[in-house]
Amino acid sequence: MNKSPLNRFKAEFPAKSINEGYARMVAAAFVSQLDPTVADLADIKTAVSEAVTNCIVHAYRDKSDYCPIYITGAYYPDGKTVITVRDKGCGIEDISKAVTPLYTTDTGGERSGMGFTIMESFCDKMTVSSRVGKGTTVRLVKKIVRPQS
Ligand SMILES: Nc1ncnc2c1ncn2[C@@H]1O[C@H](COP(=O)(O)OP(=O)(O)OP(=O)(O)O)[C@@H](O)[C@H]1O
Ligand SMILES: [Mg+2]
Repeated sequence: MNKSPLNRFKAEFPAKSINEGYARMVAAAFVSQLDPTVADLADIKTAVSEAVTNCIVHAYRDKSDYCPIYITGAYYPDGKTVITVRDKGCGIEDISKAVTPLYTTDTGGERSGMGFTIMESFCDKMTVSSRVGKGTTVRLVKKIVRPQS
């Protein structure tokens, strides 16, 4: 069944590391409308942070002009919350390899290859779609339901 969202947002910002905190907070502020648990909120912030960091670090590694990141959020009557993070960067050639724990193309020793694994474990579902030379979209789905006290 395709229900319309109760609420949604869209944001765009340049792929600068200073904006990683902005992306995390905008997603958290939006999800806070559902009165999530502290744990659920922390999970969303962590997952968004990993997705946005990937855009900043990997997607635009060979570009210097304006490099946009697009983030959207929506939540549905049952608490299902969907956040997407999209870039128009280099794309990912082999998605199944990229999402494998400990896989990284980083050669500087700074990355551990755990970003996608973290996103997967902190959300109910994560999907990656990508086209080489066109960009990548990560879709993060998490059901936010406050336990009845
Ligand atoms: N938005 C993206 N655009 C292009 N390539 C990407 C993107 N996101 C991820 N990748 C590729 O997928 C690989 C795995 O990503 P992942 O986030 O799991 O690990 P990492 O970023 O290398 O390390 P870590 O997240 O632990 O710092 C990256 O090394 C990179 O090659
Ligand atoms: Mg990463």
